[in-house]
Amino acid sequence: MTAPPATRILGTDAAAIAAAVRCLAAGGLVAFPTETVYGLGADAADGRAVARLYAAKGRPAFNPLIAHVTDIAAARALARFEADAARLAAAFWPGPLTLVLPKAAGCPVAELATAGLGTIAVRVPRHPVAQNILAAFGKPIAAPSANRSGHVSPTHAAHVLADLRGRVDLVIDGGATPVGVESSIVACLGEPALLRPGGVPREVLERTLGRRLAEPPRGADAAPAPPAPGMLASHYAPRTPLRLDVARVEPGEVLLAFGSTLAAGADKAARVENLSPRGDLIEAAANLFSHLRDLDAVGARCIAVMPVPHGGLGEAINDRLQRAARR
Ligand code: TXA
Ligand code: MG
Repeated sequence: MTAPPATRILGTDAAAIAAAVRCLAAGGLVAFPTETVYGLGADAADGRAVARLYAAKGRPAFNPLIAHVTDIAAARALARFEADAARLAAAFWPGPLTLVLPKAAGCPVAELATAGLGTIAVRVPRHPVAQNILAAFGKPIAAPSANRSGHVSPTHAAHVLADLRGRVDLVIDGGATPVGVESSIVACLGEPALLRPGGVPREVLERTLGRRLAEPPRGADAAPAPPAPGMLASHYAPRTPLRLDVARVEPGEVLLAFGSTLAAGADKAARVENLSPRGDLIEAAANLFSHLRDLDAVGARCIAVMPVPHGGLGEAINDRLQRAARR
């Protein structure tokens, strides 16, 4: 048996970036910040590194990974871009958008990373640390969110360590991730479809496309199939049950608040975390996973969640809250 890796923690200076690149080149696992959430990176072309990555996350191997690259030119070596995909990439890369596209002939990404699909998810992150690592590594990096499978995504290095210490080689600590929810995923395999609401709001994507996004494909029996394989209902579950859209906090509950006017009974809650006291959805997205983790740690009977508006980043926030509530 090989010993579990001792997890090193480094900052974001040039020496740290160089260490990250050496580690990736040696088949190691490196957690690093992107503008959305922390990713757990492996050399996407190295099937053994990708296998270690699945093992570290405890993730089912049928769930494919996003290949991260520095720019559109690098993405074109992995995937085929039709007009809609090219328009979205030009408008939102680098940034919190992932495109699911037909795999290019000669795509170097390991079959295991794409779970044997004929399609590939590609993203160009804009976080400077992610960009520095990608540029210095010079090859695609497969990176799911850096959490144990089924846990909420990490927005701080401390979240990564809580889930993965001793299971990954290196954590690059770049502070809090600014967007806070994962990238929006759009499949361009026909009519563009939104597989996962995320950091680029639906309305903004639709304005660029000049038309509405299609609904994700459904199962043959018209039951809603998980749109992206990893979007299982309970994918983002804290241990504590959630109760959504509450107007009144019940005894024994902690409160996830939104806005300046708290739900009735908030003064009796053992703990209150406010996503955005000034009612700003961008701030709320950035705080979502961190506040969920903090409230989960209290060990309360239930997390009561105040209503969050649905427009803009509200779609992604409400999507994650609904998944966390279903169990
Ligand atoms: O913001 C993000 O996207 C973060 C950062 C680290 O980049 N990454 C992330 O990765 O959220 P992950 O693995 O936690 O979620 C990626 C989702 C999964 O639900 C997966 O099933 C889906 O993308 N996916 C990957 N390849 C796909 C494909 N070929 N077709 C459909 N869905 C795909
Ligand atoms: Mg994830």
